[in-house]
This record gives sequence, structure tokens and C-alpha cells, in this order.
Amino acid sequence: MSPLSSSSADLPVLRGGMVGMGMIFDETYAPFFEAAEFGVYDATTGAFRVELAGAATRTGDRAEIYRKRRGLSNFGNHAGDDAVASLLVSGIDFLCVASPDDKHFAAARQGIEAGRHVIIEKPSVLSLEELDQLVALAREKGVLAKVVYHKLLDPDHKKLRTLVADGVLTHVNNGYCSLLEPKSISGSQFAAWITGRNPGTYVAVHYLKLIDFTFGGRLKSVQCSGQRGLVGPKDGPTWDSTQLRLVYEYESGREAAFDIHTSWVTPDNFPGYVEQEVQFRFDNGVWNGHSRKRGVELTVEGRTPHELKTTINNHYNGSFLEPWNERSRRGYGIEVIERFAREVAYVELGGEESGRAARLAEMTARDYNDLSADRQVVAAVQAMEAILAKAAAGEPNAVVEVNGRFGGMALFLPGRSEPEMLYQGTV
Ligand SMILES: NC(=O)c1ccc[n+]([C@@H]2O[C@H](COP(=O)([O-])OP(=O)(O)OC[C@H]3O[C@@H](n4cnc5c(N)ncnc54)[C@H](O)[C@@H]3O)[C@@H](O)[C@H]2O)c1
Repeated sequence: MSPLSSSSADLPVLRGGMVGMGMIFDETYAPFFEAAEFGVYDATTGAFRVELAGAATRTGDRAEIYRKRRGLSNFGNHAGDDAVASLLVSGIDFLCVASPDDKHFAAARQGIEAGRHVIIEKPSVLSLEELDQLVALAREKGVLAKVVYHKLLDPDHKKLRTLVADGVLTHVNNGYCSLLEPKSISGSQFAAWITGRNPGTYVAVHYLKLIDFTFGGRLKSVQCSGQRGLVGPKDGPTWDSTQLRLVYEYESGREAAFDIHTSWVTPDNFPGYVEQEVQFRFDNGVWNGHSRKRGVELTVEGRTPHELKTTINNHYNGSFLEPWNERSRRGYGIEVIERFAREVAYVELGGEESGRAARLAEMTARDYNDLSADRQVVAAVQAMEAILAKAAAGEPNAVVEVNGRFGGMALFLPGRSEPEMLYQGTV
């Protein structure tokens, strides 16, 4: 770490707090905070610094290791039931919620209620009712409420969206996406919180967002099947793999269907490690994306594929020796968090107090990460979870209709004439 220069020590500071300090903290938040403590420059705000003020976690163990390793003297390590509340009173400007997905809502609500800007890891929350509450509360408190979908910043996905937005690729008809995580994720990394969870909520959500954000349209229906027996019992609530199908309708009245397959029981020595593949078929073209065909394949005796990855994604959060011999960690996984910090800075440091409401409205209108623009993605997640819960309870093959004959989200089971309403309002 190089010491702060006297000029950067004088910069305005934004203090951030973490909820959860697990794998995603190590991969993206840590490198972001470690770079931003020396200053971020934005043309709209001038330079500012970001400090990691503390963390709220279940046990405090990993936070303590991190605090010691980095020699942080002003870092608050908050653990246990009141951890988020005590992190909030310690004085922070924004809260990053990176705890397990079924814990996002409670922490985010606490943060927003306390008047702090909040960013939540994907999936933002697990129901539209929770989303409605957070969006309304953020409006009332005058803060940003955002969600991280870093795949939208992947250069390949930016190119896809550019070709769609520019009309080079016209009308998507259908497509598939698959994201396969290794067994180590379900077996050890997430063992503490995996019961009752499924890989669809964890990773299909990346593609739900990509499809929703890139192609727009109106979500019409959701179906999902899945398999059990490896992570948990074959008739239990914990899923090894899921196959999700969404149908969208576009302004033209034409439809598209997307299949998203996910798993977290792929063998650990599979060369893809996290294997990602998409194909979208348009009226006039086909987009094929494959993580293992993006370019690099690395073999190091005794080290790949476990300690070092065989097919490394150098665009997400790579560690580099720069040509000018500085060490760096960069990539779209880190950039997406820095973007949020710039948005907070724009609101708080971007001009006179009298203009704050207009600046807040401008940042809230960014639909790539604003919670208010996450409706169809949260609806799909909620529908998928409800369908899987029905299947685990012995009632498989449900379909959820979105804004259809019964309005809102209606779950239909085979053989039943009346649906079960998952959400009454318009999605
Ligand atoms: N964007 C991505 O690609 C990506 C990748 C991995 C994880 N994630 C998301 O990040 C979140 C965390 O995942 P992870 O991989 O870091 O998980 P993890 O299991 O490695 O870490 C979870 C952390 O949350 C803490 N925690 C658990 N319960 C808590 C509670 N009640 N209050 C506060 N902290 C609590 C744990 O102490 C731990 O520090 C999830 O929402 C996940 O979907 C996103």
C-alpha cells in the first residue's frame, strides 16, 4: 500500500459499510475499496476518497482477519444480531449488502431507513412486496437503492446491447443461457446457508437481468423444473440444478422464449470452472457467447484447475502486473461497484445542496442498477422460488402467469382451475 499523498488526504471522503464479507467481498468489494481509498476522480464531482468504515457479519471472524491483514485502525467489526444497526450508527454514507440472498431485504431496509444509500448484491430481494417496500422507503428517505448485476458491464454484453439498441440485431425470438458452478460452491463455500436454496436464484438471475435489460419487453410467464439429491435429499427443498423458462412479449406483439439452465454441482475439476454460455437468435442473426471460448486456456502443473483457473476470465476481476510495473486488480466486477460510488458522490458532492434532489432523481433514473427497474427480474425469481417450493411440497409443474388474466402474478397448478396469487399489483 502506498501512503496517501497530502493532496489525497484532504479530499472529501465517502464512508462505506459492508454487510457480509464472504467470497464476493474478496472478489470485488475488497479491490474496489483498496483502490478507492487513494481517490477516485469523476469529472462531475472532482476527486473524492472512499473508506471502508466497517462490516456487519454473522461471526466477525473473516472481518477480523481482513482488518488485521490490512492493518486498518478505523475499521468497525460488528457481529451478531445487532451488527447492521451498530454499523449504521458508526457513521457511514453508503451500505453494501453482500450477505446470503434471503438476508438482503432486512439489511437493506435498515440501511435505507437510516437514510443511507444502499447497494445490494444480486438478486436484490426475493419478492415484489419486498422490492416495493425498499423502493418506497428510498424515495421517502431521499437515498439511492441499487443492485449489482456486473454482467451488464461485461464488454461482450455491452456489445450485444449496443447491436440491439442500434437495430443491427432485430427482434430476439428465443435463446438459451447456462451457468454451471462447481460442487465446491454448494458443498463448502455456501454450505452454511444452502438449505432451501437453489442455483437459479443464485446465478440464473444474472441472465434474467441481461435478457430483461438488453431486450426490454414484458414478462408474460415463468416455468421451472429442477433436480435434487446431491446437495440435499431428493425430495427436500434444496436444489442441485434448475431449468427456468421465461416468455416475453415485445411492442410488436411478438413473443420470445428464453431457457436458463443452472447448476452448482458440476465437478470441481471441470475446465470451465464457472461455465457460462449464451445463444440468442434474432430475426436476422445469432449471438453466441461462451466463457471458455473467450480466449485464454491456462495449464500449470499441480495448480490448475483448482488453485488457478484453466479458463480465466481476465475481464471480471483479474490481478495484473501493469506494463508500468504496478500491481492492480481490475475488471467489470470492480467497476460496477465504483460506478455506484460515483453515483453516490454525484448526489452528495456534485454541487449545491439545493440541487441534490435533481441529482438524486438523475441517478435514480439509471435503470441498469436502480431497484425500481428490477421488477421483472424479482418477479421471475419470486415465481421460480414459488414453483420450486410447490414441487418440493409434492405439486410439480406449476406455471406463473404475469400480468395475465388474473393480473399480477398468478401461479397455476395442473388440475386446478383457480390460481394462487403471488402478487396482486401490476408487475
Ligand atoms: N455478483 C456475483 O457474481 C456474485 C458472486 C457471488 C456472490 N454474489 C452474491 O453475494 C452475496 C453473498 O455471496 P458470497 O458469495 O459472498 O457468500 P458467502 O457465503 O461467501 O458470504 C456470506 C457472508 O454473509 C455473512 N452473513 C451471513 N448471514 C448474515 C447476516 N444475517 N447478517 C450479516 N451478514 C451475514 C457471512 O458472515 C459471510 O461473511 C449473495 O447475494 C450472492 O448472490 C454475487
